[in-house]
Amino acid sequence: SSTVSEKPQEYQALLSHLAGLPGIQTRVHVERGDEQSVTELYLIGNTKSLDIADMQSLPGVERVVRVSEEYRILGRHRDDQRPTHFEYNGVRFGQDTLNVFAGLCAVDNREHVEIMLKALRDNGQVCTRMGAYKPRTSPYAFQGHGKNCLPYVFELAGKYGIRVMAMEITHESHVDEINEALHQTGEATGVMLQIGTRNTQNFELLKIVGRQTKMPVLLKRGFGITLDESLNAAEYLASEGNRNVVFCLRGMKTNMADPHRNFVDFAHVPVVKRLTRMPVCVDPSHSVGSRAASPDGIMDMMHVTAQGVLAGANMVLVDFHPQPPKALVDGPQAMLLDELPYFLEDVQIARDAYLARVA
Ligand code: E4P
Ligand code: PEP
Repeated sequence: SSTVSEKPQEYQALLSHLAGLPGIQTRVHVERGDEQSVTELYLIGNTKSLDIADMQSLPGVERVVRVSEEYRILGRHRDDQRPTHFEYNGVRFGQDTLNVFAGLCAVDNREHVEIMLKALRDNGQVCTRMGAYKPRTSPYAFQGHGKNCLPYVFELAGKYGIRVMAMEITHESHVDEINEALHQTGEATGVMLQIGTRNTQNFELLKIVGRQTKMPVLLKRGFGITLDESLNAAEYLASEGNRNVVFCLRGMKTNMADPHRNFVDFAHVPVVKRLTRMPVCVDPSHSVGSRAASPDGIMDMMHVTAQGVLAGANMVLVDFHPQPPKALVDGPQAMLLDELPYFLEDVQIARDAYLARVA
């Protein structure tokens, strides 16, 4: 990859030169900052024969990096100076930050959404999760209210000061539905598009979501594929243009997961931060899948959350519900609203411990 100046004549001459290189495809990515923008050209193909010094000497080329690692854009490289953070709707997401996204696994009604968002506001939270489009194992299970709930979800999010909402999409049409509802409700809240574990390798959905750069993406690790395959899935998003990606560990499907719903994979928090520049999220709800607690009185979900945060996690995605027995999806893994301050305090304890460890 190379960063080039933006002098039109030099830039055009460079593009023409690169177009003449046999078997090489050029991808252009422009990072627009407040003061300046950087144009990156990714040469894809058999670039081994290209000499870095020759490339560096081309007019307009400022820096050339030979990127061998597979995750070209999101990968962390030896002399990487690229940022490991992004800002969205006033919230910073980086490998040095921590944001809690507590909310409803599935939106069931307006009353429960308002109760949840009021509790978040009262606990100083500005992020949440709300499931409108639900991927379900059974076609007979509740599929989510879809676009019908978006108007009141976004209206209430604006009312309670929510700045970023993680919301899963399972089809490309949902992006337009969300944008339309956000527009209708004044865009007070921003949406982080969530790609669920069942769609981690839905490459056409990844390409479409990657082509829109308005909303960042929360990509769940594939629960039945390797970490490498999941990180390459994240690269699909970035290669199409959207590099504002948070990578989420949510447990692995295995016949040895018991007593949890999935085998908790939060040990990979430092691994993902080492291999890539993505902030890393942990989802204790879908990992553990129940409110089981140990003799110390602490739920397994809180223990594994603390493990992830102590290892440097940058985001926690967690299910709460006003009345879990009435939840339409995943009630057994939902925490109670009166547990929210306790949960947040425990996360802060783990965060302070992490910061002390890396100081
Ligand atoms: C996530 O919220 C999923 O929709 C849910 O965990 C799927 O659960 P199911 O296998 O019972 O459909
Ligand atoms: C969710 O977070 O609502 C969800 C469906 O999670 P996962 O894709 O990890 O199962």
